[in-house]
Parts: sequence; C-alpha cells; structure tokens
Amino acid sequence: MASIIGGVATTHVPSIGKAIADKKQNDPYWAPFFRGFDYVHQWLARAKPDVAVVFYNDHGLNFFLDKLPTFAVGAADEYRSEDEGWGIPVSQAARGDAAFSWHLINTLVADDFDITMCQDMLIDHAVTIPMSLMWPGATWPVKIVPVEINTVQHPLPSLGRCLKLGRSIGRAIESYPQDLRVMVVGTGGLSHQLDGTRAGFVNKEFDKLCMDKIVNEPDALTRYSIHELVELSGSQGVEFLNWMAMRGAMTGHVSELHRNYHIPISNTAAATVVYGNKKEAGRKAA
Ligand code: DHB
Ligand code: FE
Repeated sequence: MASIIGGVATTHVPSIGKAIADKKQNDPYWAPFFRGFDYVHQWLARAKPDVAVVFYNDHGLNFFLDKLPTFAVGAADEYRSEDEGWGIPVSQAARGDAAFSWHLINTLVADDFDITMCQDMLIDHAVTIPMSLMWPGATWPVKIVPVEINTVQHPLPSLGRCLKLGRSIGRAIESYPQDLRVMVVGTGGLSHQLDGTRAGFVNKEFDKLCMDKIVNEPDALTRYSIHELVELSGSQGVEFLNWMAMRGAMTGHVSELHRNYHIPISNTAAATVVYGNKKEAGRKAA
C-alpha cells in the first residue's frame, strides 16, 4: 500500500527563480532563505519519496478569472510550465502519475468533493519554484499530482474545507494498492499582500501562530473566516489554504522536524517547514 512519509511546505515567490538562475543563493539577502533548505535536502535524501502531491494555487497561467475552479486535480503523465512574465527561465516539466491521480480523483468525488479533473494542466511558479528548491540543479526525481486550490478569486474555500479536502486525499493515498512513498507539499504564504493600500503587509505574530497550531491543532485554525484570514495574513497570505490542505493529507502522528522563517523575500514573509508523518499503530487505512 502507499504510505504518506511526511511533507514540506514553502513559500513560492517567483524572484527565488531569478536568484537561482543568477546563482545568488549565498548573497546576504538570499542566504537566510536558501540555508533553510539544507535540512529539506537531507530529509528528502533519507525519505526517498516516489510521488509528491502538491497543493498550490495557480496565478493565471492555467486558470484565469473567466473560469476558476475551487479545487482542481491534475490527471496527466506530464505537466509543462510556460513563461508567466516574471523574467525567470521557463522551468523543466514535471512528470505525473495519471493512474495515481485518478485514484485520488475517484476517492475525492466519492467523498462529495466536486473537483475539476485536468488531463492537461500547466504548472506555474507555485509548483516549479518549490520543486526547484527541493531538488536544486537536478531532474526532479519524483512524479507529482498537482492539486490546485483557488486562493485568487473570492469566494475562496474555507480553512476547514481545505483541511477536509486534504484529509480525503490522505485517505485516498493510504488506500492505493501500489507501494508508493508519497510526500505532500503545500506552497505559498506565509503573510503577504502584493497590492492595495496594505501592499507589503506581513504579520509575524499570526504566521507564528499558524506554524505552531498547524502541527497538532489544525482544527483550531478553522475558526478564522476567509475575511479574517485576509485581514490577518494579507490578501495573498490566504495561500495558507494550501498549507492546511497539505496538513490534512497527513493522517498519522505529525511532528515538526524543521522550521525556517525569514522576512522578507520580495514582499513575503518566507517560511519553509518539514513535517514527519508517523502512521499510528493499529489504525487501519480508510
Ligand atoms: C510574490 C509572492 C507570491 O506568492 C507570488 O505568487 C508572487 C509574488 C512576492 O512576494 O513578490
Ligand atoms: Fe503566490
């Protein structure tokens, strides 16, 4: 059976791609952020995932405001990227696992999640930057299942709904008959606001609270409405929804193995965390 070995959550700011292209990892501005990945690399070398289920939000590359699903799941064997206009090199494509995707999709729909299924899906910086950070300078060694969450056009799904989506995917992963080592990834956040009168807004206290609670008390965070989340974390800080879905997908005992928090990268309070997920003894996969 497939197992969930843990997860990584990280900021996905596009200028990280420019820093990588210009080899600026050791520059004083970038070093505090890139050093946060040393542990991630060690963990990945030990954990050896086969597949990554990546919870992220598209920023207008694959979906636009004319047609924007609340939740969309990729079901392809390859996901290409394209130029988004950020002035960074177009990323390598990611390999997919369509059979595994369809298993997740079947389970989600049986669980009453009315998702959009995408046999053709472009991945934007919210997938490619975290992949390039996790496996720098390499062909990515994992296949991915991209799970897209609308954090762009209101109304957005609630924190609780995203947690439940993740839990459904966690159950789906554990009921997959193939012996896959599956990691989960949540991208975006933490607090940031790119536009309007609060442009540049970050909230260190709230970010800390989110990182503290999400480990063992993710349900406590569902008390915040989307409008409260916008107020507390900024209009793009709502990308934390991706973190909540990723957390939901870890169905065992979750522990924080690593945390790096640094303000700012571009306009964003940058965070990188690694979570371990230990299957509870005696619990049967749903
Ligand atoms: C920035 C952050 C994002 O999450 C994003 O998608 C684009 C830009 C930024 O801080 O510049
Ligand atoms: Fe973003």
